Amino acid sequence: MNQRPSILIARAVFPDVVEKLQQHFEVETTPAGVVWSSAELVQRLQGKAGVLTTGGERIDAALLAACPHLKIVANLAVGYNNFDLPAMTAAGVLGTNAPDVLTETTADFGFALLMATARRVTESERFLRAGQWKEWSLDLFAGAEVHGSTLGILGMGRIGQAIARRAAHGFGMPVIYHNRSRLTPELEAACKATYVDKAELLRRADHLLLVLPYSAASHHAIGAAELAQMKPTATLINIARGGIVDDAALAVALRERRIAAAGLDVFEGEPRVHPDLLTVPNVVLTPHIASATLPTRSAMAHLAADNLIGFLVEGRPVTPLNPEVLAA
Ligand code: GLV
Repeated sequence: MNQRPSILIARAVFPDVVEKLQQHFEVETTPAGVVWSSAELVQRLQGKAGVLTTGGERIDAALLAACPHLKIVANLAVGYNNFDLPAMTAAGVLGTNAPDVLTETTADFGFALLMATARRVTESERFLRAGQWKEWSLDLFAGAEVHGSTLGILGMGRIGQAIARRAAHGFGMPVIYHNRSRLTPELEAACKATYVDKAELLRRADHLLLVLPYSAASHHAIGAAELAQMKPTATLINIARGGIVDDAALAVALRERRIAAAGLDVFEGEPRVHPDLLTVPNVVLTPHIASATLPTRSAMAHLAADNLIGFLVEGRPVTPLNPEVLAA
């Protein structure tokens, strides 16, 4: 009988996902709360044909060279900026991600963060909890209007479109967007979104939501120069990736009220958060939870498991990122 392939689950996942994988593989798990360093990851990957990653594990040429048995890396995130995909393809290693299953949940959270930021939900709660609420007053925590205001979206993939539909159909918001490529007229009509260049997006948006993937090209896509072009009354929401916003420049813009407020779910160098962001009042901060509902996080982990099983057992991964590896 052929030996079953060995795989590593690089961060703790739900027990039913482990059980599903154990039906096909020798499985090494990772205890809850443990995050492997690169050296530990390389050590644990010796002899492994596959690994389930979460999006935080860097997969680059050095790791691939040190793990010659590796055939597939299955990310349970949709974003895969932790992959050096050309290096993976060169090494004949398949990468997969977890698209679609988190689109609507992440769009819900984008809207939640927009609402919390514009309407100053966490700032006013801190005030109340601190016992500072002495009387009702007309302008107490008066925020920015959401319904009917102009929503700008930078990055118009599946999640951006799901947010645009909520904004246009549910909140009567004019939606403008900028993206590497323009949507088809049918898709633009479905989410009632108008394509504009980046300068116009920055200038016109009352609320600017970032949903673009991180890459060298999108590094600091929003920095001091871009923040200076936004309205002083605008809010900025980042549910995309840390590094797309220059967090230090944003902290300055928030402190000096060059924009009104920001809502951030992702950070440069997370889980560290730029210390200046922790001291400005007009920012809502959440720990990378945009896709975090139990059904969605479960679907993401199952999709990653299905990619491992689909590829290593059946030769047919579900959501391959570099299918040229399959042809080779
Ligand atoms: C989460 O950030 C993801 O990319 O799925």
